[in-house]
Amino acid sequence: MSEIKKINDFCFDETTENILHELEKTRTDFWNLDRQSANFLNTLIKINNSKNVLEIGTSNGYSGIWILKALKETNGKLTTIEFWEKRQSVARKNFQICCPETKVEPKIGSAIVVLEDILDEINAGKREKFDFVFIDANKKEYISYFNLIDKMITKNGIILADNILSHYEKVQDYVENLFSREDYQSQILELGTGMMLSRRN
Ligand SMILES: C[S@@+](CC[C@H](N)C(=O)[O-])C[C@H]1O[C@@H](n2cnc3c(N)ncnc32)[C@H](O)[C@@H]1O
Repeated sequence: MSEIKKINDFCFDETTENILHELEKTRTDFWNLDRQSANFLNTLIKINNSKNVLEIGTSNGYSGIWILKALKETNGKLTTIEFWEKRQSVARKNFQICCPETKVEPKIGSAIVVLEDILDEINAGKREKFDFVFIDANKKEYISYFNLIDKMITKNGIILADNILSHYEKVQDYVENLFSREDYQSQILELGTGMMLSRRN
């Protein structure tokens, strides 16, 4: 039996699809989401009408393009963190070509340090809390990211974390912590490398 098609080959304009298809050729080198997971991320942001999205782990901007395409519809903004400057400069170029009209704040640095700075800004009233967070960086640090994100996510905010099933040992403390929290409703999805979807009640 031929393989069942799971996702459209074309979701966006030709320029964007050309770049996405190019990035898909090297996705294992840059640890990008697969297209089906990226489409889910895009759809979820639109369903939730999220306007202030944080991404931890920009890489070359593949998932960021899908996020920005959703934010164009919700009229929102993306803040995205990456410690590898060269990768993020590729991402910036991709964002500029595919989504020139959507606001993006790329942050260079180690995720925990950048998150601490962002939290200081939120506490000082200089920045809004996030209504959607996508976690896709150092698996061993997911729990530390969460301890900071917990203080900067809105009520009804969504956290989506990737590589939950592929790297379960490394993210187990994150998973167990979320499942123990009565103020979050969580579920693991067998999508791509396994995603944990959590909603702050
Ligand atoms: C799985 S890739 C992100 C893929 C991207 N979300 C996508 O789907 O296109 C993880 C990225 O996080 C970055 N990273 C890993 N640990 C980090 C840390 N502690 N702080 C900031 N960035 C980190 C890596 O350099 C890498 O580019």
